[in-house]
Amino acid sequence: MDRREFLKSSAALTAAGVVAPEMLAAGQTDMGAHGADGEGRLLTSAPMLQNYASDSIGVAFAVGDMANGYVLISESPDLAGARKVKCGGFRVTEMNDTVQQIRVTGLKPATRYYYRIGADRIRYKGGYSMKVTGHEEDPHVYSFVTAGKGAEGHFCVINDTHAHFDTFDRLTEKIAALAPSCVIWNGDASNCEETIDSQVRIFLDPPIARKDYAAGIPYLFAPGNHDSRGMANRHLEQVWMFRQPEERTARDWDLGRNFAVRMGDIALIGLDTAEDKLDTNPLFAGLFNSGEYRKAQVAWLQGALRRKEIASAPFLVAFCHIPIFDDDPTHNPGDVAPADKDPQYSADFAYWQRTCGELWGPLLQKARCQLVITAHMHAYRFDAPARDRKWAQLVGGGPDLVKGDGFPTVIEGFTEGRTLRIRVHNIRTGAIQDEFRFDAR
Ligand SMILES: [Fe+2]
Ligand SMILES: [Fe+2]
Repeated sequence: MDRREFLKSSAALTAAGVVAPEMLAAGQTDMGAHGADGEGRLLTSAPMLQNYASDSIGVAFAVGDMANGYVLISESPDLAGARKVKCGGFRVTEMNDTVQQIRVTGLKPATRYYYRIGADRIRYKGGYSMKVTGHEEDPHVYSFVTAGKGAEGHFCVINDTHAHFDTFDRLTEKIAALAPSCVIWNGDASNCEETIDSQVRIFLDPPIARKDYAAGIPYLFAPGNHDSRGMANRHLEQVWMFRQPEERTARDWDLGRNFAVRMGDIALIGLDTAEDKLDTNPLFAGLFNSGEYRKAQVAWLQGALRRKEIASAPFLVAFCHIPIFDDDPTHNPGDVAPADKDPQYSADFAYWQRTCGELWGPLLQKARCQLVITAHMHAYRFDAPARDRKWAQLVGGGPDLVKGDGFPTVIEGFTEGRTLRIRVHNIRTGAIQDEFRFDAR
């Protein structure tokens, strides 16, 4: 079902009175004034908060007609004195009929903000014939808290959702119950996405009960190998923004996904392990460039770890999709040139990224990183620290709720004084699978 078909069936479900109460609460079926021309809904998803940070936030949402979106934001619950931030930067505003992305900057750290989304409907007939014919605002006022030293140190991690919406529904319910300060989506949200509509369905308008899953809890993204596959995923930024331009130096301009965020006593570091196949693998026809990308992240990581708010955090947790450690000799380490094939390994793609482990592992170790949280294996695992590797590694589970022995996980982290507590929630059984404690650096 494509997105427009899905929207139609959502409308049918609404008419049949089978829409979850959360959808109504989020204003999904009760949008504000329609356009002057009486067209259908303009706002077709709840907002998604992207790229959690201390002084900015990304707000993305889907639209069903040519539009310029905006955010009204205020520190006051009644939006008194709200600032209006439009989609688009200098020169021209944005104008499209698919996704609106608004970058809200100049925010205060560890501060609660209230906001509403809206969009102007545009009738565009040519360069000299364009008209705003109306606007639509989501009646719901959402709120979120920015990151920073004063924020509550509490995160959740999900991974390898692969557009399994039954699983995603369960994960988002667990996250809502845990109410963390932010969520890290640790890659493989996608499978192989060829259209922006399928990306919208994954991130902005998923067929789950809690349509506003990311409207009050900001998300961070550490991409997985599948998030680069398919024509649309070559430009995932059309649905999930890159980090703020002012957060990146000219040297790091292409590193739009890396993050270094202080949240309470925890420093969160996001790295991108990129593809699980070598750039030389004929399958990819020389059209991927993961090798140089991994190396470029070394200088970024060195700088991020030196930043005052990161260096001074009692806890340092890094996130990346592909594991950067594995002691199983049959597991492909991702550096078998030229085509990832070697009979000693059980698969011809990376089970782990030895290259990233060698590039980034020593830097994390020197910074006394306590934990690296990874994904990709579709099998939950904990690798305890060893004599020559002071950081532990957690590998999140896969997407299957019923098949096989695995189970999806929500990995939760929070601080209690000088201790970082980690809880691994088994989403198949509902039980706590494991608990770990880490001392402050
Ligand atoms: Fe995966
Ligand atoms: Fe993966």
